[in-house]
Amino acid sequence: MTGSRQQFAIIAGSGFAKFGGDSAGESVNTRFGAPSSPLKQLQFANHSVYVIVRHGEDHDIPPHAINYAANLVALKDAGVDRVIAINTVGAISREYRPGQLVVPEQLIDYTWGRVHSIYYEPCATLDHIDFTDPFSPGLRSMLLEAASRAETECHDGGVYGVTQGPRLETMREVDKLERDGVDIVGMTAMPEAAIARELGMDYACLSLVVNMAAGRGDKAIHEDIEDSTMTAKMQAMR
Ligand code: HPA
Repeated sequence: MTGSRQQFAIIAGSGFAKFGGDSAGESVNTRFGAPSSPLKQLQFANHSVYVIVRHGEDHDIPPHAINYAANLVALKDAGVDRVIAINTVGAISREYRPGQLVVPEQLIDYTWGRVHSIYYEPCATLDHIDFTDPFSPGLRSMLLEAASRAETECHDGGVYGVTQGPRLETMREVDKLERDGVDIVGMTAMPEAAIARELGMDYACLSLVVNMAAGRGDKAIHEDIEDSTMTAKMQAMR
């Protein structure tokens, strides 16, 4: 890394277990324990980007059991300033369809029982972070510009509702989320976004819609997910 150039990282989600390529990567440890996967570095044009695979390389870590703090502290320790979080979501609002990308602008946190903060015990440096805008506006703009350059349709905005999982929602839970103003629903943006902010890193989500949420689609959810164009979109994101 040279001078003040920003160091990027990608936290890759479901369906992206091989995103970091074939190298073994570096196994690191943090005060919160080990991250979900070794830290890999990928080359995009002339940028070197760190990659962590959120659900583990064998895709065996469910959303509620991910060590979000370890993942983000490992990236911070590696000198990362900007984190792009790739995740899959279900669409509640009919403006969003499977196969489309979204860079959400807001979130509502419905998760519970996760390690939600780096301030997990009495701590002299406790900071009540400003979380008015949970996703970094500058990084959101960069993602939207990149999607536009790649001529990939990408929604600018929307509210990401973060549910606990690992099960999907009931139809009436989705009705409630809709009344709350949620557009897309996923399981991993929290506490990831908040811990990134606590660590002073820019953070934004690039969310891939893989299904219509429970009760919103014409097909069974898993059929919707299988039919979605995850592989093609993954190529487009590269
Ligand atoms: N709900 C919650 N998380 C998800 C969904 C969903 O419908 N699809 C992909 N991740």
